[in-house]
Amino acid sequence: MIQKLLDEFSRQFGPGEAPRFFFAPGRVNLIGEHTDYNGGHVFPCALTLGTYCAARKRADRALRLFSMNFPEAGVVETDLDRSAPLPGGSWANYVLGVVRAFTDAGQAPTCGLELAFYGDIPAGAGLSSSAALEVLTGTVLKSLFDLPVSGTDVARLGQRAENEFVGLSCGIMDQFASAMGKRGNAIFLDTETLDYQYAPLDLDSAHIMIVNSRVKHSLAGSGYTDRRAECARALEALRTAKPGLPSLGALTTEEFTALADAIPDPVCRRRAQHAVFENARTVMAFTALQRGQLAMFGRLMNASHVSLRDDYEVSCPEIDLLTEIAWRIPGVLGSRITGGGFGGCTVSIVTDAAAAEFTETIRREYEEKTGRIPEIYAVSAGEGARELTKETDKE
Ligand code: GLA
Repeated sequence: MIQKLLDEFSRQFGPGEAPRFFFAPGRVNLIGEHTDYNGGHVFPCALTLGTYCAARKRADRALRLFSMNFPEAGVVETDLDRSAPLPGGSWANYVLGVVRAFTDAGQAPTCGLELAFYGDIPAGAGLSSSAALEVLTGTVLKSLFDLPVSGTDVARLGQRAENEFVGLSCGIMDQFASAMGKRGNAIFLDTETLDYQYAPLDLDSAHIMIVNSRVKHSLAGSGYTDRRAECARALEALRTAKPGLPSLGALTTEEFTALADAIPDPVCRRRAQHAVFENARTVMAFTALQRGQLAMFGRLMNASHVSLRDDYEVSCPEIDLLTEIAWRIPGVLGSRITGGGFGGCTVSIVTDAAAAEFTETIRREYEEKTGRIPEIYAVSAGEGARELTKETDKE
């Protein structure tokens, strides 16, 4: 991969100093969906799939950006002082947004850059290809300019780029998982405090499997923003009964049940109910994993899906079908939609004994009923964003 990127870098930017290489992964969320903008917990892990960058400084303030995933866009030519997004929803806005966020935070790059990218995360699958691009850009800036920013800062600035420059008001989960991922571990993150713990993914004789429905999920202009607004309205209403309540994630399920009538709108009430109960499930799932209670973990995943389908309404028929097929297969411990929703992927825990049947049955039944061929991946939790230096890293 690195060689292909290096060749492309030379083709686009010509001779000069050798570039440095960087990588940032995508993520899959095991449980804790739509809790990260509600002050709750999430439980994602970084993938080994991700986005690569070859990077070199320039003597002037120009930014020259090329993506092997969008070759038709050619080299995007801009500069460090650009403060507005490029028109037409350019891929380069994720990069520019991070440059802007670093600059606004007093961590401005001091010269221009040549950057070539290549990513192997399927786009629109809900596996955070955009967060990977943001975190990757932040990691490049931090390393090339020796900036005093932590991995958490890189995640925060990536989120700011997405919120303020790209214009999607996502939470912190995706950027945090990409920046802070650890091989073989999931990250149990409190999105209110950003306290986190790694949890070894010791799944005995089971694996995490991702199934891509191939229904493209697009969050911009989708129900994502509506869900956020509905949760905000629910919180506002709850504050009339419980003044000073900081977030939905601060409530136990019992407290919520006692207060729920304070939310007059039934839709907002269901959204808030999901946020509160999903947060509780995520905390339970973390404990279950630590105790090796995989069956319990799986049941919590299934309950998460039902809640996202019925109360939060962010699933779609194809994803529901994938979970229903999975739930019927003995040896599948749990299966749910993952990520922002409205398409994308499911995540399942599948015992090794059931793996072949899982792949075969999902493939056959899903294609029969939808005409779409799903993509199925076995996941191993990968390391977070980093410079690729050692020879071993350069594969
Ligand atoms: C998207 C957002 C995240 C999070 C999830 C839902 O991936 O980018 O911040 O809200 O949806 O859990």
